[in-house]
Amino acid sequence: MKQADADPLAHTRADFPLLQRCIDGQPITHLDSAATAPKPRCVIEAVTGYYLECTANVHRGVHVLSEESTELFERARQEVASFINAAPSEIVFTRNSTEGINLVASGLGLREDDEVIVTALEHHSNYMPWRLHARAVPVGLLPDGVPRYEELGGRLSSKTRLVALAQVSNTLGAIAPVADWIAAAHAHGIPALVDASQSASHLPIDVRAMDCDFLVMSGHKLLGPSGIGVLYGKRERLEALAPYQVGGGMVKLHEEEQFVLQDVPWRFEAGTPNIEGAIGLGAAVTYLRNLGMETVQRHSVELGRRLVTRLRAIGGVEILADSVPDGQRIGLATFVVKAPGLGQENIARLLCDRHQILVSGGYHCAHMLHQRLNLEGTVRASTHVFNNEADIDRLAEALTEIVEV
Ligand SMILES: Cc1ncc(COP(=O)(O)O)c(C=O)c1O
Repeated sequence: MKQADADPLAHTRADFPLLQRCIDGQPITHLDSAATAPKPRCVIEAVTGYYLECTANVHRGVHVLSEESTELFERARQEVASFINAAPSEIVFTRNSTEGINLVASGLGLREDDEVIVTALEHHSNYMPWRLHARAVPVGLLPDGVPRYEELGGRLSSKTRLVALAQVSNTLGAIAPVADWIAAAHAHGIPALVDASQSASHLPIDVRAMDCDFLVMSGHKLLGPSGIGVLYGKRERLEALAPYQVGGGMVKLHEEEQFVLQDVPWRFEAGTPNIEGAIGLGAAVTYLRNLGMETVQRHSVELGRRLVTRLRAIGGVEILADSVPDGQRIGLATFVVKAPGLGQENIARLLCDRHQILVSGGYHCAHMLHQRLNLEGTVRASTHVFNNEADIDRLAEALTEIVEV
């Protein structure tokens, strides 16, 4: 970012207490939000507020604390709904994205020979559930890892029951043409699921404009707590889905002979939910909305550009998906560091131990991508609203030192 064009999110750094953390007496450089993001103070306060002020179960109790916790819980649902332009009744609270995808995979009534179209770079969470319940059919990859999105049309058949695609890959950081995929699927009467686990923190999401049938998100990547996630579904899609867990809170009427399910979304939330998680997630999405998701996106894309520019300039560092057009990558880059005797996980550990820079190293739950590119792991640097160009420069300097040794 140029001086004249000062970072509009620079002030957010002070909101994240974790960024004060030191390792070996040195402040950390956090470049690992794609794994799990630090939490702003407002999220921590929302969670502790629930513990301190109104801990009680939701939808069940008859006393004041229970009313208050129910109100906070359902308000969080509204905040999440507004964040993605959905109706509250279309928001199911889950544990994480993985649970949301499993819920759809088990609720659609798939058969073994049904097909679900994915890409070969999907996270295991958007691949394994389809393998378990049906056949996952991946579209191929270009040599640098970018999916051949145009192959989708040729993969659709009378056996296709769903198209399921990450809006932003956790390994490439590239923004996928989800609108094209959704339109192509709908042209054949096939529903589409969007995995927004990585995109929801970086791009404005409007499920109505996108016209997706399902969308999943994970709280912990969205600056919210762990153990809370979201499954969005168009109302009629949710109503056609079979619940995959049963128990307390999800039936309206229960008699010896019959039972009647609660309305959506509550029929999918059997048992006591993660109340404080939902409240924290509500605070997180409100925080992001207040920053302005267009601003967040510009900042993320700018950092992505900086990452690629700085990494490309280091001999011995090879970036995946280098063919992604300018502006089509969030602040995330995955790369291979060529340093004698060191695997990619060693490099990630070295960045932490010597330079206090936190990144991911390994397969990032995208084994199919690594297998197809013949890679034994990669290093991933990923940003969030609080990161700045100095963080990326620090990473580039550390990597230069590592490859030059
Ligand atoms: C693209 C993508 N999909 C799904 C997931 C699964 O998220 P969770 O482990 O929170 O369920 C991840 C997590 O890294 C991800 O990056």
